[in-house]
Amino acid sequence: MAKAVTATMRAVAVTPMRASSARQVELPIPTATGNTALMRVLEVGIDGTDTEINSGLYGEAPPGSDFLVIGHEALSVVEAVGEGVPGFTAGDLVVSTVRRPDDCPNCQAGESDMCLFGRYTERGIKGAHGYMGEYYAETPAFMVKIPPALRPFAVLLEPLSIVEKATFQAWKIQERMLWEPTRAVVLGAGQIGILGTILLRLRGLEVHVYAKSPPDSLQRRIVESLGATYESVDDHPVLGIREELGQIDFILEATGNSTVAFEAMPQVGTNGVLCLTGVSAGNRSIEIPADVINLQMVLGNRVAFGSVNANRRYFEMGLEHFQQGQLRWPGIFQRLITRRVPFDDFTAALDRRPEDIKTLLTIAAE
Ligand code: BGC
Ligand code: ZN
Repeated sequence: MAKAVTATMRAVAVTPMRASSARQVELPIPTATGNTALMRVLEVGIDGTDTEINSGLYGEAPPGSDFLVIGHEALSVVEAVGEGVPGFTAGDLVVSTVRRPDDCPNCQAGESDMCLFGRYTERGIKGAHGYMGEYYAETPAFMVKIPPALRPFAVLLEPLSIVEKATFQAWKIQERMLWEPTRAVVLGAGQIGILGTILLRLRGLEVHVYAKSPPDSLQRRIVESLGATYESVDDHPVLGIREELGQIDFILEATGNSTVAFEAMPQVGTNGVLCLTGVSAGNRSIEIPADVINLQMVLGNRVAFGSVNANRRYFEMGLEHFQQGQLRWPGIFQRLITRRVPFDDFTAALDRRPEDIKTLLTIAAE
């Protein structure tokens, strides 16, 4: 029998909307009963959203709680399963999805990433505790089983799912016409930009990445090893990309900077698509060349769309592309993991450094 009443675990929590409030908390270890499984967390990826939450710009505690356990990208191992958890056994590797449905029709159809009512929650972000602790409980509908061969980089599945959705949706949108894309631009060379480049190269496109990292950066070397080009926006500003390259069929905006998003609009080529993936929690305003953008959008049938989160279908696509990417560029996904930080140093993990691509907080060795 588990000592359910006294057993506690360590987790990292913030007070939402208060800057630098990340701290260690002690919480009861959840139990695995009925249709829930108990997950032991191995490692948690940190992204821009975590940094924004710890800067007091974003995030919401669960109802009735004054803190939020952060972390929404976790690789875990199943510790125990309730009697109503088919398909999983102790020892399975799992990455859980982030968003939990409300009662809108899309959420009820399994597409909470297309939520209509906005009452969804997101684990570690909005109204539900996340994964940055020793354990969490989950139901099978949100658990994605990871083949053991993907263990070294499976923690990247959540960010990968973001670009899986972005590209899948773009191609879906383009079913509106005859579209044979050959050239793509990726703005930003963080994890989303690089993972997006991998997917676009796997689709056979010529890819040009424009980013801020210095010319001798790891980001640049990784991008070039994928057979894509890398330019620094210092000498190749976003506003000149279309003139530089000619027709651009697809642009993936992965900087999270809203100014770049608007600068990207007039860069998309005829019949092209721009996908925005950045969450900008501030309230900055800019001046834009409205006539030019409007005219080009109309005359060139251009589309700009936003894409958030990912339902489990996109996590499953990610598993497939992990395999394909690993075959074509062995070791590519591990190269994105640039920093591993032990649990006690979680504050350092939440700091973003220019050379970081993906920082992991290590919770348990195995
Ligand atoms: C997460 C998404 C989430 C979005 C907005 C991203 O960092 O990966 O799951 O929907 O933030 O909260
Ligand atoms: Zn909904």
